[in-house]
Amino acid sequence: MAFGRGKVILFGEHGVVHGRPALAAGLARGVTATAIAADADALVVEAWDLEVSPSPEAEQPLGRALWEVLRRFDGERAPLRVTAEVALPAGAGLGCSAALGVAVIGAVDEALGAKRSPEALAEACLVWERVFHGNPSGVDSAMAAMGGVAVFRRGETLVPIVPRTPIRLVIADSGETSSTMSMVAEVARQHERAPARIDAVFDGMAAIVQNGRLAVETGDLRSLGQLMTLNQTLLNTLMISTAKLEEMCSAAREAGALGAKLTGAGGGGCMIALVDTVARGEAVCAALSPLCQSAFVAEAGA
Ligand code: PMV
Repeated sequence: MAFGRGKVILFGEHGVVHGRPALAAGLARGVTATAIAADADALVVEAWDLEVSPSPEAEQPLGRALWEVLRRFDGERAPLRVTAEVALPAGAGLGCSAALGVAVIGAVDEALGAKRSPEALAEACLVWERVFHGNPSGVDSAMAAMGGVAVFRRGETLVPIVPRTPIRLVIADSGETSSTMSMVAEVARQHERAPARIDAVFDGMAAIVQNGRLAVETGDLRSLGQLMTLNQTLLNTLMISTAKLEEMCSAAREAGALGAKLTGAGGGGCMIALVDTVARGEAVCAALSPLCQSAFVAEAGA
């Protein structure tokens, strides 16, 4: 059984596509997959009632992504049927596609008796991610394969960070789905039109990542919360938040969260809010319940 974990981006989404750092954390929830010998290669995702065959022309992107990863396995091999169990919402900013990719590649490795480091697994998942995201920074794949809390920068080795105190988050799904590919393309268009202005926003996010890292390492939850709210203000200037996400961020803060922001590509998806205790997290979940599809308390990097 292979596992790919979900992730949250604490700071730096979108800037990370353009060479700035991001601070991200793996989640205990993710995708598990197993591969068994069969008559033909296939991927079955029971939660989505979906079965795909690998093909470069498949209408369903999963079929194209499967083709991209399977064709990179060298030599003769028996066909494999991969079954995946997905415990993350898709298109919600929690890195579902990368978690699925890492789980699928890991399951095929296991079935073939192949050994691969977590870094190599993250790298192998990039071809899968390109099918869904066009121009992925690689942060989702890295966190899906390696987890923990870490600073990621495109093309560089992941830098693990050790939190001084547990980082407890409320993760709430707005129920609005969005496409990471189109959100990333929209921000890239803004960058093309006004490079100096958007670079200044990305540089602001990079400064937040550095300060956020310090806050994580020193256990300064109050600063960490303030930085999350500040990051949300910058994401807002890119016009990728939604009225619903804004309402959820305010409600979380009013219910005692230390800070809140969207996580991932935006345009919908999930909000994260920092809380000091699990009990406060439960209170924030209760306050959010009339506004969101689902909410739960999680420890970042657990
Ligand atoms: O929405 P998600 O979970 O795929 O997160 C995307 C994060 C971005 O920075 C917007 C894109 C990327 O590839 O880093």
